[in-house]
Amino acid sequence: MDKKTFYITTPIYYPSAKLHIGHAYCTVATDAIARYKRLRGYDVMFLTGTDEHGMKIEEKAKAAGVTPQEFVDRIVTGEHGVLDLWKLMNISNDRFIRTTDDYHMESVQKIFRKMYEKGDIYKGAYKGKYCTPCESFWTESQLKDGKCPDCGGPVHDAEEEAYFFRLSKYAKPVQELLEGGEFLEPASRVNEMVNNFIKPGLEDLCVSRTSFSWGIPVDFDPGHVVYVWVDALFNYCTALGFLNDKYDDYDKYWPADVHIVGKEIVRFHSIIWPAMLMSMELPLPKKVYGHGWLVIDGARMSKTRGNVVDPYLLVDRFGVDALRFFLLRTFPFGSDGNYSTELLISTINTDLANDLGNLVSRTTAMAEKYFGGTLPPEREADPLDDELVSMIRETAGRYAAQMDKYQLHLGLEEVFRLIQRANKYIDETAPWILARDEAKKPRLATVLYNLLEALRVSLTMLTPFIPGSCEKAFAQIGADEAARSWDRAGEYGVLPATVSVHKGETLFPRIDMNKALEELEAMKAPKGPQVKIEPVLPDVSIDDFAKCDMRVCKVLACENVKKSEKLLKFTLDDGSGAPRQILSGIAKFYKAEELVGKTVVAILNLPPRKMMGQESNGMLLSAVREVDGKEELRLLMLDDSVPAGSRLC
Ligand code: MSP
Repeated sequence: MDKKTFYITTPIYYPSAKLHIGHAYCTVATDAIARYKRLRGYDVMFLTGTDEHGMKIEEKAKAAGVTPQEFVDRIVTGEHGVLDLWKLMNISNDRFIRTTDDYHMESVQKIFRKMYEKGDIYKGAYKGKYCTPCESFWTESQLKDGKCPDCGGPVHDAEEEAYFFRLSKYAKPVQELLEGGEFLEPASRVNEMVNNFIKPGLEDLCVSRTSFSWGIPVDFDPGHVVYVWVDALFNYCTALGFLNDKYDDYDKYWPADVHIVGKEIVRFHSIIWPAMLMSMELPLPKKVYGHGWLVIDGARMSKTRGNVVDPYLLVDRFGVDALRFFLLRTFPFGSDGNYSTELLISTINTDLANDLGNLVSRTTAMAEKYFGGTLPPEREADPLDDELVSMIRETAGRYAAQMDKYQLHLGLEEVFRLIQRANKYIDETAPWILARDEAKKPRLATVLYNLLEALRVSLTMLTPFIPGSCEKAFAQIGADEAARSWDRAGEYGVLPATVSVHKGETLFPRIDMNKALEELEAMKAPKGPQVKIEPVLPDVSIDDFAKCDMRVCKVLACENVKKSEKLLKFTLDDGSGAPRQILSGIAKFYKAEELVGKTVVAILNLPPRKMMGQESNGMLLSAVREVDGKEELRLLMLDDSVPAGSRLC
């Protein structure tokens, strides 16, 4: 029989700046759900990608002096780019879509045309308030204190000829969909959408732009590009091969089982998206789940606020699983979570080092110490075991009930209840006392076996969250592939009676809070060349400036000054026809011979100066920088096409 499919998506990310842990939060959560569904035997399609069009990208590329395509390529595929980040975070996406991919662009053109031919897209003129960073037009009534309701930034009047989507036509069915109770979760977001957006009256949506060109052209009206949200939302279908030949699993996976999205884009996913799908007469996704934000002191983490936390730094110091776990264990998935590094460290110490890590290391260490790593087959049960054994049998069911509702933190809560119970069981049964008496060996073996079973079940449930660590821990407790499977997670007695274990590396070492915070600060300190920024000096008049005679010179000869470690002697062509001699204290930074032939800049009308008995007629210009705490100097050099004697102005 074919497996049941499960199609899950994250939003596709704007590659307008490097991603931070707020972005990672959304993708890690989606990854944990995707892995959970795979564990449950589903044929999962997990899609993520990048949303690469729009005015913001066009402007940023311009400011960076590159084409928009070069700009996005750098952020998506470059070092520490989006792809690197997902690799770092151990994200198991099955597909990655870029909205600049040809197949996607072709499909979106066909989709736009289809809605136009149906009469759901029509041409008009747009007048409204536009927020550039959010790429959104707003009506006066939607503004909050005259500012963009999404980002709180300024908006400006804008007008342009544009195509409109008849969103108003779909207000009623969309409201019914939302109020049906299944489509949008958490339920609190339904009221927000209905009361704030639908009830005040849904206006038709402007779906094309003419004020910039970095977008998918409307093929029947060049000059218009498709509104970035129309382009972006349809990625969920085009990535499966809808109206293109790149893939052919649209029929298999659509409609999506769940779109995981941050709360600020719930409006697009729960109103505009179903309305457009209705227009296209396509099945609707089964669910949109709007998660909360990672905030710092109450403010959403974002590049513009300058409060972003770099996931590379955290993974480097604490490991990827610690970060993944922290994000999903600490914050209820539907609500905002206040990030702090102190909280991250204390979560690692409490849950991973103390509870889980200790259980693995104590259990395997005792099995090695008392039985040489392999348990004997003899057993002796005790009523003391009953509670733990029933928890081993029942926890998976409770965990699954939470996971199926995307209550990831509550799923983890169930696992940790079992882990904590197992740790308590060690104290209750005191294996070190049993070990003193040969006759108690069957009882001791039973205790250790029960602990291993509790671990086996816990690790199966933790695999979606901390896959790498579970892999290692499974190997330590002697669980083979079959013993790791979900089908056995609700059973007791799965590991062989004579299971062999080995105590491996410590999975989660305890972290010294103050030391780690200091280390992180040191890691944050910028590496490579630095410039000390000094205050700008008081003004000088242009006439005073003009008195400095700065000229381009060619280096005719250069040699070290005898008995001086610092000085180089330059013979320069300053354009006058007569060679000029200048001494410069840069021997530490350059070899004399490497400077011959270079085009440098000198100020010529300084009074002559004697150094080490030799005359210097002017001064070479250079820049000072600091590299790893040491001052370094670089000569100002121009390209060789600038002739000697040219004046700087
Ligand atoms: N490009 C759109 C999505 C189009 S989907 C058809 C977009 N991109 S984004 O890069 O700005 O955001 C991607 C996701 O990251 C969103 O779900 C957003 O909520 C999430 N996050 C960005 N910052 C976040 C936090 N600080 N905390 C949690 N999630 C955050 O929106």
